[in-house]
Amino acid sequence: VRVAATPRISIAPSLLSSDFSRLGEHLRAAEDAGADLHHVDVMDGHFVPNITLGPPVVAAIRKATRAPLDCHLMIERPLAYAKAFAEAGADSITFHVEAKDPAREVALAIRALGKRAGVALNPDTPLDRVLPLLDVVDMVLVMSVFPGFGGQKFIPEVLDKTRRLRREVGWAGDIEMDGGINGETVAACAAAGANVLVAGTAVYGAKDMAAAVRTLRERAEAARGGA
Ligand code: DX5
Ligand code: ZN
Repeated sequence: VRVAATPRISIAPSLLSSDFSRLGEHLRAAEDAGADLHHVDVMDGHFVPNITLGPPVVAAIRKATRAPLDCHLMIERPLAYAKAFAEAGADSITFHVEAKDPAREVALAIRALGKRAGVALNPDTPLDRVLPLLDVVDMVLVMSVFPGFGGQKFIPEVLDKTRRLRREVGWAGDIEMDGGINGETVAACAAAGANVLVAGTAVYGAKDMAAAVRTLRERAEAARGGA
C-alpha cells in the first residue's frame, strides 16, 4: 500500500550514544555522515531511572551546530521545563503522554513558545491516548523500547500503532520511532509509516558513520515504496 501523505525520511542520531567528552566533534561527525537532525535524550531520574542532561547542555549543543535539535523529554514535569529547553535552543520538544502534567496543556505551552510539539508514547501505552492530541502536536513518537537507556532491543509489537496512526487515522504529520533501530529494524518502521528514525547505537557505535546513516536512509526509503 502506498502512503502518499508520509513526510520525508529523516535520520536522527541519538546523542546519548555519543562520547559526551567530545560532543562538538561528534555532532559534526554525525552531520558529515548525513544526519538530518540531532535527537537529544533528556532524562530526569524520576520518569525514568536514568539521568542524562539538561538545558545547559542543550544550550552548549545549540552553539556547536545549526542542525535541528529534537529534544526528547523523558521527564515527569515537562510543563515546568519546556521553556528552559525552548530558550536553550530546542527546535522540537517531545514530551511523554505518561508524564504527570496534562498533555494538552504541555503541547499548547510548547507551541506557544514557538517550537514544534511532539508527544511520545511508551511501548505499553495504547495509541488511543494520543489521538485526542493530534490537533495540537506536530509529531508523534512511538517508542520501540521502554525509555531509559540506549542499546536496547527493538520491540516489534509497537509497529501496529505506527501503522494504525498512519493508515487508519490518516495522520499526515511526523511519526518518529526511537529505540533499537538499526539496519535490520528500520525497514519495518518505515513500511509502517514512520518517517523520523532515531538511532543511537547504530550510528554512534558504527565504525563508518556515513555508511550507517546511508544504510538506514536507503532501507527506510526502499521500505516505504517510494511514497
Ligand atoms: C531511549 C532513548 C533513545 C535511545 C536510542 O530511552 O530515548 O533515544 O538513546 O538508542 P538506541 O538506538 O541505541 O536504541
Ligand atoms: Zn529518545
